[in-house]
Amino acid sequence: MEPVRKHMEELAAELDRLNYEYYMNDRSLVSDQQFDEMMRELQDLERQYPELASPLSPTKRVGGEVNKTFRQVTHRFPMLSLGNTYSIEEIEEFEARTRRFLDGEQFSYTCELKYDGVAIGLTYRHGQLVQAVTRGNGTVGDDITLNAKTIPTIPLRLRGDYPDDFEARGEVVYPFEAFEAMNRQREAEGDEPFANPRNAASGSLKLQDSAECAKRKLQFCMYFMMAPDSVELPDTHYGRLEWARQMGFKVQPYIKECKNIGEIKAFIDYWDKARWDLPYAIDGIVIKVNQTPLWDRLGLTAKSPRWAIAFKFKAERVSTPLLSISYQVGRTGVITPVANLQPVSLGGTVVRRATLVNADFIEKMGICYGDNLLIEKGGEIIPKVVGVDMEKRKEGAVAVKYIDRCPECGTPLVRVEGEAGHYCPNSDHCHPQIIGRLEHFVSRKAMNIESLGPERLELLYGAGLVRNIADIYDLRREQLIGLGADQAASIQDKGADNLLAAIEQSTRVPFERVVFALGIRYVGEVGAKKLARYFKNMDALMAAAEEELAQVEDVGEVTAKAVAEWFALSEHREIVERLRVAGLQFSGRWAATGGKLDGMTLVVSGVFEHFSRDEIKADIENHGGKVSGSISGKTAYLVAGEKMGPEKLKKAEKLGVKIISELEYMDLVR
Ligand code: IVH
Repeated sequence: MEPVRKHMEELAAELDRLNYEYYMNDRSLVSDQQFDEMMRELQDLERQYPELASPLSPTKRVGGEVNKTFRQVTHRFPMLSLGNTYSIEEIEEFEARTRRFLDGEQFSYTCELKYDGVAIGLTYRHGQLVQAVTRGNGTVGDDITLNAKTIPTIPLRLRGDYPDDFEARGEVVYPFEAFEAMNRQREAEGDEPFANPRNAASGSLKLQDSAECAKRKLQFCMYFMMAPDSVELPDTHYGRLEWARQMGFKVQPYIKECKNIGEIKAFIDYWDKARWDLPYAIDGIVIKVNQTPLWDRLGLTAKSPRWAIAFKFKAERVSTPLLSISYQVGRTGVITPVANLQPVSLGGTVVRRATLVNADFIEKMGICYGDNLLIEKGGEIIPKVVGVDMEKRKEGAVAVKYIDRCPECGTPLVRVEGEAGHYCPNSDHCHPQIIGRLEHFVSRKAMNIESLGPERLELLYGAGLVRNIADIYDLRREQLIGLGADQAASIQDKGADNLLAAIEQSTRVPFERVVFALGIRYVGEVGAKKLARYFKNMDALMAAAEEELAQVEDVGEVTAKAVAEWFALSEHREIVERLRVAGLQFSGRWAATGGKLDGMTLVVSGVFEHFSRDEIKADIENHGGKVSGSISGKTAYLVAGEKMGPEKLKKAEKLGVKIISELEYMDLVR
């Protein structure tokens, strides 16, 4: 055993060192392949000798453990926020006030970047990472230790000297490059892209599968150190961060000690422009008093320290001519107007196009032909149209008239009451809709028929072989061979076999993904899952009335209506029947499992100790129950948490609904 233990420790130490050199010093000391081989060797050994596997092993960086729930943890030191301002005058006031208060004392400030990410706190004991917690509400956050371990710039073990017990605070950021790559992939797979890197970072830290989090390429930037009074830390903020860097943390190199307001303002001015060259988003500058013994003297206001302030950058804005408007047709027929702009540089990138959202948006903004539009880019990277540059409005300008026919097929557009968008109703013959639906159907998160790319779909459509999703399952070998002979997508013997095998393989895709693949408006991946779990099979889903559909968690009235309408059409029913004959999964495996709550409807209310709201709802569904938002005679139980509304309680009592606590609920299902 001893030699094995020693070898595992050596492997781990070497992997840690290589990781450090790669992420901190940009130095690759071995090839990726060599690195992967060492990692695999250590993983194998850990599987073989689990008793020798360290919870801080570099194999944790790859992830693979599943977070069932994110335990709520009370912060040892509350995570305060900072007072912030957009005004330089208020920074001047902050500086003057601090100087006055410290009356004649020698001191300086540190200026540093304010990262636009997710704040977390990392607890280290004896140089080892023991816990990672999100900021949450500042008092209580979520334990995200498993996911944090996958972030390469979070040290698992510290280097050199370190305080025995302390907390490192910093921000988890999603670098632009990795963020954009991930969003492109999401869109290709039919998932909603994240709005900005901050939301994406936050979502990533809450992923249940840590291996998924490992793929996200997040970074941790450290900016603050806290320790109990018994532990001695350097007496300047600058010195503390310097030390943290030696321990192996990624600390921004741009932090600057500033002696006076002139230097502070110069730092702010510089970064207001230079921020766009950074690989990640910042949304301001943080100014702190450098000498930490002065922090106590300055003290706190209600929720933020008096020894620090944040200056926030205003979103950058430019004015540029609107050249034309294109109208894109999506797979569900929805029309999206897009402004084609005179290319203009904004926050480090060239902007050529920006969405105009829908007809209401254009009307609300009052956009006229020949206008100049104001484009803004905030902390996020997607530029937004925020208005018309009225100074450049031409005399006699004419308001943009929205199209009334589909730009692709000429069919008059329709607009459903209560909805902002126009759409083309010619779903059967409008080219981008047909191809879009097919692309969605075969995409990875749906039926995952990889060998059917957009080019091949065009080819099959052009040849009249595939007009709708059910046609895919009628394809025969002899129809395919030689198709598109002169084109890149042409199909040969082997290609035909592979394609047919991939189609056959897709009949094993679970029911919830089949529901998603149908491409019903508003039914995304999550909605499809909820519908599938609720109704358990296609027949029940197909037969459901709008009101019942709207009962499903995360399915609003609009979606419920869209689902009911989709299944009401005989063409769609026909397609569904053909998919059934083709052997697709029309029921879920959870259908037969006889859950403890089968057939029961529960209502949950208040806050719980062991579950978040979403978790308890998911738990109920996993046990076969349904969750409803309102109490009725049909409610089996009301699960009452703390701080639940008095109306719910009253109603439950009146209707004689059984009220149970969280613990009673847990007994009930386990
Ligand atoms: S210092 C007690 N430094 O901004 C002061 N915060 O409201 C602790 N932030 O929640 C914070 N970059 O998430 C500090 N360089 C930086 C920062 C930073 C980003 C965030 C942090 C905090 C918020 C301030």
